[in-house]
Amino acid sequence: MSKTIFITGTSSGLGKASARFFAEQGWNVAATMRTPENETELTKLDNVRVFKLDVTNLDQVQQATQQAIDAFGTIDVVLNNAGMGTYGALELATEEAIDWQFAVNTRGPINMIRAFLPHFRANGGGMFINVSSFMGLTTAVPLGSLYNMSKFALEGLTEGLYYELKPLNIELRLIEQGGSTDNNFANGITWNTNPDITVYDKLTDKLKQLMNSTDSSLRDDTLTIVREVYKLATGESTTFRTVIGDVGNQLISMRNAMPINDYLEKIASNFA
Ligand SMILES: NC(=O)c1ccc[n+]([C@@H]2O[C@H](COP(=O)([O-])OP(=O)(O)OC[C@H]3O[C@@H](n4cnc5c(N)ncnc54)[C@H](OP(=O)(O)O)[C@@H]3O)[C@@H](O)[C@H]2O)c1
Repeated sequence: MSKTIFITGTSSGLGKASARFFAEQGWNVAATMRTPENETELTKLDNVRVFKLDVTNLDQVQQATQQAIDAFGTIDVVLNNAGMGTYGALELATEEAIDWQFAVNTRGPINMIRAFLPHFRANGGGMFINVSSFMGLTTAVPLGSLYNMSKFALEGLTEGLYYELKPLNIELRLIEQGGSTDNNFANGITWNTNPDITVYDKLTDKLKQLMNSTDSSLRDDTLTIVREVYKLATGESTTFRTVIGDVGNQLISMRNAMPINDYLEKIASNFA
């Protein structure tokens, strides 16, 4: 019998590519997104059902979870992929921007996990794959404190949950990716700005310049990430944290090899 994956944030990037790939492999896919009325591709695929879901909206979380269970009977894997980035100085962030960063990247997966736990318990098992980032394991650039916060928190959440879900045969996995070749993530960044406070402008310009000039060869191929997600979903890989690509792996190695003070100074010096 076909297995079923439930994916958040399938309107673009990794989420959409994953929905397409799993469907091609014969899985059923509950592809969820905030604006299903705009979707033209996934709605055409036989084994894909598209449902409306903003992961911060608890009513929609309950509704999409139930709709997917009703449509497919059993959900085997939940891919918590939906995410966004808030960058810029913390001092300049609006209260709403701070809360929204946490709401989407951290509270969103919490909402989905809590919604699916009764179903997984009833089925005697299941798997949550949480899409984090190497920015969830280390810092890499200035002005990313809120994004780092949201993904570091997702790491702690996932690791902390391991112990209570293991006896229930519910698996947890993390994907640690960097920028991918097929996403709108950088375009979707919310920048914290305040024209009256210019002290952070120079650093902000440097970061924007770096983000806009990043060589596409340094980005992770989206399909490579999707294949790693697939290996986790099928059990071919049982790695708890899968770090994708050279950039991420080199950065994590450097972080692990250095005293933290030296690491912080090294990253800071790249932007001095
Ligand atoms: N690209 C990178 O540089 C990078 C690096 C490391 C980790 N990641 C992580 O990878 C994941 C996928 O991102 P991506 O690279 O594929 O970027 P992307 O193309 O921007 O995809 C993000 C997806 O999340 C959805 N989303 C945003 N807020 C949502 C909400 N409140 N409820 C439901 N869906 C929401 C977006 O939908 P809408 O179209 O409705 O906005 C979009 O479908 C994210 O968790 C991201 O943090 C990305």
